[in-house]
Formats: sequence, structure tokens, C-alpha cells
Amino acid sequence: MDHKLDGKTALVTGGSAGIGMGIARCFLEAGGNVMITSRKAEKCEEAAAELEGLAGQVDWRVSHVGEPEQGEQVMEETVDRFGSLDILVNNAATNPHNGKTIDVEASKLDKTYQVNVRGPLLWTQIAWNRWMKERGGCVINIASVGGYSTSRDIGVYCMFKSTLIHMTKQLGAELGPQVRVNCIAPGLIRTDFARVLWEGERGRTIAELLPTKRLGEPEDIGKAALFLAADAPWITGQTIVVDGGEIIRVDPPEA
Ligand SMILES: NC(=O)c1ccc[n+]([C@@H]2O[C@H](COP(=O)([O-])OP(=O)(O)OC[C@H]3O[C@@H](n4cnc5c(N)ncnc54)[C@H](OP(=O)(O)O)[C@@H]3O)[C@@H](O)[C@H]2O)c1
Repeated sequence: MDHKLDGKTALVTGGSAGIGMGIARCFLEAGGNVMITSRKAEKCEEAAAELEGLAGQVDWRVSHVGEPEQGEQVMEETVDRFGSLDILVNNAATNPHNGKTIDVEASKLDKTYQVNVRGPLLWTQIAWNRWMKERGGCVINIASVGGYSTSRDIGVYCMFKSTLIHMTKQLGAELGPQVRVNCIAPGLIRTDFARVLWEGERGRTIAELLPTKRLGEPEDIGKAALFLAADAPWITGQTIVVDGGEIIRVDPPEA
């Protein structure tokens, strides 16, 4: 095993499930230490127990990405626990509004912005001020292929994922050379968040339409994150689409 992250520490928001846990697993297998965070202690504890015994060390803290003071606290504790804060993965997100964008309630719009945009920006700001400005580091944002297109039902979510893709370019430009800022735009990944989209016949139909003929797994995103963290010293401000070919697929002929 090539331990590409030996001695490096990563903080993964939403690391207790789904894509965040897949990223944590890949980082730990590569010899990195990982602090996973999410809102529910029992989820964090279970995920950390499942991730024990890999090459790197894992720990967890409860925190809500919409609350920057909790970011301050968890980053301080990450440095105390592992001695550094080299990689921040802004992965946690929410999608409270399903329906047309024109119909969104102000409270749901604010919530989506608070968690999906304000959170990643302010957590990056804290990581920069607390550690990375002086010692270097790397930030990875998790957007979505939805950030490149319109949507019938999740337009608000897509709008803010598009903002995250732009924020990645802006911060990539501002934070070099100390810090590289990159982003991953996943397609459909088999997690709880997207369960209604992939479970059952619907998922099989979508998979059949993809050039890769299968849906994504959390580790597909984990491997891309590991590449950006460990093997991409001259890449910054970019978004890698990891979608099994969803956005380049050829439409099937009309029936
Ligand atoms: N799955 C897909 O198909 C897909 C596609 C494109 C993009 N994405 C993006 O990938 C990322 C992860 O999604 P996922 O599918 O892995 O979701 P998931 O399986 O629902 O996992 C979400 C994780 O985030 C935590 N979380 C949720 N809200 C949080 C908050 N406010 N503060 C801190 N932690 C929070 C959850 O734990 P707690 O409940 O304990 O907080 C959980 O650990 C998101 O940015 C999502 O937009 C997913």
C-alpha cells in the first residue's frame, strides 16, 4: 500500500456517512489521520468504530457546519489531537426544498445557503487563519453535477452548488501558493441523501444510461479526493466531475 498521506491530518465535515465517510476511508487507507464531524454523536461514533484499524488514526467531534464557532472549536481540537490541519474537506450539505426555485420559502433558501455556501466559506476562513496561511494546506469542496445544470425539483440546491464551484475558483486564486482549493462534482452516488433517486428500478435504469454502466459509490469520490489531496500539487481552483459519464452520455434514441 502506498501511504501517500503519511503524517497529514484531514478534517472531513459530514464524515459520519455517505461520501464523507468514503473520503475518510480513502484518506485513512493512505495513512492520513482523519477527524470526522457531523451533527449526531452516535453516527460519528459508529462511523469511527467502522473506520478503526486502517493505516491512519481516526477521531470524531460533533459539529454543525452552519455554525462557524463550532468550526473554530473542532479545528482547535483537531490540531490538539493530531498536531496539524493539512486538509479540509467541505462535504456536508443539505437540500430542504424540493420543487420549483420560484416557489422556495425564504427560510429554506436561507438554510441551504447557510449550510452549503456560508459553511464551506467560513470553515475555510477558519482553517486558513488558524493553520493553513502559515503552514500550507489543501481544501476540497464537494459540489454536484447539479451545479452545472438546471433542475426541475432541486434548482435551489443546484444554484448553491454552482456558487460553490465558483467559490473554489475565487479562493484558489486568493489562497495560493500556501493553499490549493479544489472541488469535486459527484454524479449520482449510492448514499442515503440520494436514496430516492437510485433505489430500485429507477437506479438500474439510470445506471444503464451511463457509459460506465453503474452508479457511483462513496469511494469513487474518496479516490478523487485522495488524488487532489496527495498527488495534485499544480492543480488549484478546479472542479473534477466524477459522475460515471452522466454529463457526457449520449441520449438514448426516442422510443
Ligand atoms: N449522494 C449523491 O448522489 C450526491 C451527488 C452529488 C453531490 N452530493 C454531495 O455530497 C455531499 C455528501 O452527500 P451524501 O450523499 O454523502 O449525504 P449523506 O449520505 O446524507 O451524508 C451526509 C453527512 O453529512 C452530515 N451532515 C448533514 N448535515 C450536516 C450539517 N449541517 N453539519 C454537519 N454535518 C452534517 C450527516 O451526518 P449528521 O446527520 O450526523 O449530521 C452525514 O454524515 C453533499 O455535499 C452532497 O450535496 C451527493
